[in-house]
Amino acid sequence: MQLFKSREELRAWRNQQQGTLALVPTMGNLHEGHLKLVDLAQQHADQVVVSIFVNPMQFGANEDLDSYPRTLDADCQALAERGVNAVFAPQVSDVYPRGLDAQTSIEVPHTSDILCGASRPGHFRGVATVVAKLFNMVQPTLAIFGEKDYQQLQVIRLMTEDLSFPVEIMGMPTERADDGLALSSRNGYLSASERRLAPLIYQVLQGIAQAIQHDGVDPEQALATARIALQESGFRVDYLELKRQGDLLPATADDDQLVVLVAAYLGRTRLIDNLQFTRN
Ligand code: PAJ
Repeated sequence: MQLFKSREELRAWRNQQQGTLALVPTMGNLHEGHLKLVDLAQQHADQVVVSIFVNPMQFGANEDLDSYPRTLDADCQALAERGVNAVFAPQVSDVYPRGLDAQTSIEVPHTSDILCGASRPGHFRGVATVVAKLFNMVQPTLAIFGEKDYQQLQVIRLMTEDLSFPVEIMGMPTERADDGLALSSRNGYLSASERRLAPLIYQVLQGIAQAIQHDGVDPEQALATARIALQESGFRVDYLELKRQGDLLPATADDDQLVVLVAAYLGRTRLIDNLQFTRN
C-alpha cells in the first residue's frame, strides 16, 4: 500500500493508474464502519484510495478540532490489511495553501442549513468544499459515503450533481455495535456510563418508526414522546425530526419514504444517528 502525504506525490501516482478508482474520504481514527466502506469500494472499483484528513474547515470555533483523535499509523495498518491501494493523508497547508479565510468555498443551499447545519453553521460548507477538493486531487470515478451521516450524503450528492463532477456517489448502510450504537470516532469520548446509555438513541429511533409505521401514531406525538424519553435518560436533544428521504424536506402525510434523524449530547459528546423506513 502506498502512503501519499502531498498532492504532488498523489498526482504522480494517479496519472499512471488505469481503470476505475474509488475514493473513501475519512477523517481517520478508523473503525469497522469506515472499513465496511472500503470493502464496498473494493467490490466496485479496480483501485481504492482512502483519504485521511481532519478537515479544519468543517469544525466550528468551539468544536473538537484539536482533540479529534489522530491515529495515522494504526489506520494505515488496518487499511493495508484490507488491501487498499493508496492512502492520501495531506497536510492542512497542502489542502488550504492560502489559509481557510482566503479559501473559495462551496455552499449547497437549503440542505446545508437544516438539522446539523442549523446547529453547526458553516459545517456543510466545509464538508462540501473539502470533498470537492478531494475529488479534484484524487480524480475518482466513484466515491463512497456512509448513511450514518445521512445529511452529509445528501449534501455531497447535490454538490456532485450541481457542479457536474464525473463521480458516482454511493451510500453505505450504517455499521452498528452489537447493542445498536452507530460506530463513530466520537464514541471514544464517552465515559463507561455514557457508553451504556448511548444505544438508547437507536432504540428511540426504532420506537418512532414502529409507532408511525405499524401503530398509526401521529408523527409529532411520536417525536415528542421520544424527546422526553431521551431527556429523562440524560441526553440533551439538539434535534429529532422526521423528513422525507432524499431531499430532507419536512415529511407530509402523503410521503411514505421517511427518515427520522437525531442529534443529541451525552455529556460533552454529540452523537448523531438516523433510521430510514417506509410508511404503509
Ligand atoms: P468521518 O467521520 O471519518 O467518516 C468517514 C466516512 O465514514 C463518512 O462517509 C461516514 O458517513 C462514514 N461512516 C462513519 N461511521 C460510519 C458507520 N458507523 N457506518 C457506516 N459509515 C460510517 O464524514 C467524515 O469523516 C467527513 O465529514 C468527510 C466526509 C471525510 C469530509 O471531511
